[in-house]
Amino acid sequence: MIIDEYYNGDPEEAIRLGTSKLVGAYGFCIMFEDIPETIYAIRSGSPLVAAHTEKGSIIASDMVALVSHAKHYFVLKENHIAKITKDEILVKNEYGDIYGPTIHHISWDVGAAKKGGYDYFMMKEIHEQPDALKNTITPRIANGLPDFSTDHVSDDIFMGINRIVITACGTAMHAGLIGKNMIERLARIPVTVDIASEFRYQNPIIDEKTLLITISQSGETADTLAALKLGKAKGAKTLSVVNVKGSSIARESDYVLYTHAGPEIAVASTKAYSVQLAVMYLIAFRLAYVTKNISDREAKSYMSELVNICDTVEEVLSFDAQVENIAKRLTKADDIFFIGRGLDYALSCEGSLKLKEISYIHSEAYAAGELKHGTISLITDNVPVIALATQPDVYAKVISNVQEVRSRGAKVILITDANASVDASLCDHQIVLPETSALFTPFISVVVLQYLAYYVSVEKGLNVDQPRNLAKSVTVE
Ligand code: M6R
Repeated sequence: MIIDEYYNGDPEEAIRLGTSKLVGAYGFCIMFEDIPETIYAIRSGSPLVAAHTEKGSIIASDMVALVSHAKHYFVLKENHIAKITKDEILVKNEYGDIYGPTIHHISWDVGAAKKGGYDYFMMKEIHEQPDALKNTITPRIANGLPDFSTDHVSDDIFMGINRIVITACGTAMHAGLIGKNMIERLARIPVTVDIASEFRYQNPIIDEKTLLITISQSGETADTLAALKLGKAKGAKTLSVVNVKGSSIARESDYVLYTHAGPEIAVASTKAYSVQLAVMYLIAFRLAYVTKNISDREAKSYMSELVNICDTVEEVLSFDAQVENIAKRLTKADDIFFIGRGLDYALSCEGSLKLKEISYIHSEAYAAGELKHGTISLITDNVPVIALATQPDVYAKVISNVQEVRSRGAKVILITDANASVDASLCDHQIVLPETSALFTPFISVVVLQYLAYYVSVEKGLNVDQPRNLAKSVTVE
């Protein structure tokens, strides 16, 4: 409308004048009635990517949309105007000069953006986790040690820092919670994890001795991007863990560690989470190693466990039928609670988000020790509680929390590691994970939680890949 008001035969002038009156983020594709077969595009804050192919030109808000059609693309810069016809794309910068954008290669193959025989992308993406993990971990091993040389991230990034701040949204933030646990445990550096939409409005304590890590699958989440810009402005070193190459967060960061998950299409994030975990583990190992908190031998041993976990994840993929059977009993629940301690609490947050996102069942995650400070009053007859008890150091404590909820009528689904000896009367269903060292169980527990959410959603006849009210990339605040 506003562009129309300024239109006097010169489309670019109308777009410039019209958008100069706007506040906030936008990405527009504009057609003029008297200029047929031509699309003009401009953006501010929100992403726009474009590609020209033999068959014509394409513009989209997400690179994933281009994968099946193009091999190369570019990101339209903020306040540049693209004039798109079937024969060419012409870009002009804010001064009206012709601008040659940087062209990126699309390395994801076309099949990655198709369901490949699965009913839903989410199930396909759950199954892609072992390969995504291998692709993310393998290039970062040199002489058995964690190594970011191929990413051009030197150890300088860790020098002179006295704290790490991780900021992200949703599932990516949950990967940050696990990252905090691993970094503090192994490298003994204080880490805080902040939800990006909170971080940016709380005048965070950040300076040049802070390493700010942002995590994002899309690399376009508006709040995470704003948090990153704020951290940079305050002098922090910035490192991002991103899946989409050339995305805004990747471009804004001093350093990038790409996750190699391939395109993630289902709104519910699965494989992107696993590879984010892998990168957070690699950061923890490298940092612990260069700060001499772990020895060469220990670093190598952790790396070998990280490599081996890919096969264990493959093993857990065969738990589908068992989890489906349990999920069928949960579809009528009004509320479902997840409890755990330490790494299992961080996992509970992710399991709960996944479930509520695609099943529309109300769910909360609680640190198991917090039950008696309020939550336990919500436990009544037949309320399902998913309890994660995979960590030996707090195992007995979680089991005691399980007894507390069970005695109040909860239906308990207990997820334990292979070594746990569980009294059968303690739970209604038990899922026993394959033998793994405790630090690495998040990679396999999460598969069970992803299956659980998936099967509850399928059983309820919902659209697993596109839950109501949600978008894959949240490019607005
Ligand atoms: O693209 P990002 O990783 O920045 O997205 C962050 C969240 O919007 C995202 O993880 C969201 O929580 C997922 N849909 C959860 O499955």
